[in-house]
Formats: sequence, structure tokens, C-alpha cells
Amino acid sequence: MRIAVTAIAAVGLVLGFAAGAGAEPIKIKFSHVVAEATPKGQGALMFKQEVEKRLPGKVVVEVYPNSSLFGDAKEMEALALGDVQIIAPSLSKFDKFTKKLQVFDLPFLFDDIQAIDRFQKTKMGQSLLEDSIKAKGYKGLAYWHNGMKQLSANKPLKVPADAKGLKFRIQPSNVLLAQFQALGANPQKMAFAEVYQALQVGTVDGQENTWSNIYSQKFHEVQKHITETNHGVIDYMVVANASFWDKLPKDIRGELDKIMAEVTAKANKIADDFNEADKKKIIAAGTSQIIKLSKEEQAQWRKAMEPVYKQFEAEIGKDLIQAALAANKGS
Ligand code: LMR
Repeated sequence: MRIAVTAIAAVGLVLGFAAGAGAEPIKIKFSHVVAEATPKGQGALMFKQEVEKRLPGKVVVEVYPNSSLFGDAKEMEALALGDVQIIAPSLSKFDKFTKKLQVFDLPFLFDDIQAIDRFQKTKMGQSLLEDSIKAKGYKGLAYWHNGMKQLSANKPLKVPADAKGLKFRIQPSNVLLAQFQALGANPQKMAFAEVYQALQVGTVDGQENTWSNIYSQKFHEVQKHITETNHGVIDYMVVANASFWDKLPKDIRGELDKIMAEVTAKANKIADDFNEADKKKIIAAGTSQIIKLSKEEQAQWRKAMEPVYKQFEAEIGKDLIQAALAANKGS
């Protein structure tokens, strides 16, 4: 009998679950690559706070921001191995696992974050979340928003020809690679944690990111010009290790799902405000010139990047692209 009880406790320990009174709480390590003062950073903290309030003694959440536990290159693997239980990579970082999520990287696809939100709530958007990476052992829990991407460089970028020949850091996405190649620029895939230094020492000349990422990583201190292009998006999928999540005790998993849905709604509401506020802080810092585009100039960027659609139409699927574009019209 004693042996049997010990054996059950041991199984509980291996799975990381509480096996009864006095047992250790379930530990969820949540690792991400951005600063705490960003939409994603805040979402992760809200999740921790709510979980520990509503499941006291049962679940603890440890948040590791700023690539402090795992950076871009390692986090998906660490999740598969169970070294971390939740991560929230940008949707641009999944193209090794599925071609479908590449849709989010198409330039000038969404007019704003509200359009992304509408698309993600459609049947197709939900199926991308629930099914696109399931076979690889990952579970998509939620979409979290950041914002629209801007283009920065140490040279003013007013028209597409200005980007020609410049080196740009990109996330590991073939669509983003093609986007910069369409401009005649030289894109380089690079982990987020390495970008500041690469900009500082001139390994790359520029990059694309949201106002909140630019401000919180201090990119504006090492980039003389930022063009307000709004040419693409940074948005996230919150992902768990599927076997960890599915084996959680039912009542705990149910509560965690509920909390994730509530936190998602709250975090997604503050994303736009965060980016607006950080844009103002960048302007106030005065280290970068902010370049605004006229409608005609923005149309030139759109046209220059347009060939990317045809290049990836077969991989992504025409239906998916059409559905995403339709979300711009509102509902
Ligand atoms: C980037 O690598 O630029 C972004 O995906 C970082 C992030 O998580 O917002």
C-alpha cells in the first residue's frame, strides 16, 4: 500500500501536478522575449496575477521577460521539451511549423489591429489558432495583439527606393524576407535579443517593429529615422505544450482557460494605447526623426511590396488571404 501511494506521488511529481493535500503547486513557466512594459509583457503579468489569485496554492506562474530564460531561437524547442509551459511568439516565428500563419506577415494586409481582431475571431482565424500547430504537439491558447509595424533606419526612408541596398533585421519569416527583397534591400533573420546591438554597431542598417518594441528596446536611440509606414503587424499566439495542458486536472484547466480568455480581452484592449503612448515618448526623446508619409507615398510602399502576395499565395491559400482582407471592411 505504502509503495502504491509513493508510486502515485512520484507520477504526480513527474507530471508536475499536485497529488493531494500539502503537495507542491503546479508550476507554469511563461517565457517571452519583450520587456514588461509592452502589451505582451503586461498580458503575461496579468495572467500570473489572476491565476495566483484564483488558484492559490494550486498553480504558480513564473514570468520570464526579455529572453531571460529562452530567446527566439530556443523557446519553441524548450516548450516541446517541457522546460517551459507557455510562450507567446510573434506569428512571424511559426513558419517552420505551418505555412498558414504566414498570412499575418503579408505587407499591408490589415489596416489596423481591429481588423486583425475581427479576422482572428472568424471560423478561419479560430481554426488557425486551434489546428495549425496541433500536430506538432503545441496548443494555441489565444491571440494577443501588439500593433502595426514601422520602419526604422539610419537613413531617411521616404519612398521605397530609399531602402534599396540597406540591411534590415527581420524576424525568421520567409514572407518578411521576400518583402525586403522586393524593395531591393538585404534582409537578415535575427533573434529579437540581438537587434539593439546589431543596430548600434551597424551589422544592420534598420529594422521593422511596433512603437512599443522600439521604445522598450531603445531602438530609437540607435536609429536616426523612423518612418510611420504601418505596413504590417506584430501579433502573437500564446502557446502551451499540448500534453502538459491536456493532462492538467480538469477543474484547473477549466479555470486557466477562463482566465486566459479574460486576460486576452483585457491585454488586447490596451495594446493600441501602449503603442500610442510609446510613440509619444519616442517623439519626446528627440533621438529619431519621425517621418510621416502622404497617401501617395504610402501607396508607393504598398505597390513595391505587392509582389509578395503572388509569391506566397499557393503556400498560404487564396481563401485565407481573401478572408483576412475582408476583415478590413469591418463587421
Ligand atoms: C521581434 O522579434 O521583433 C518581435 O517578434 C518581438 C516580440 O515578441 O514582439
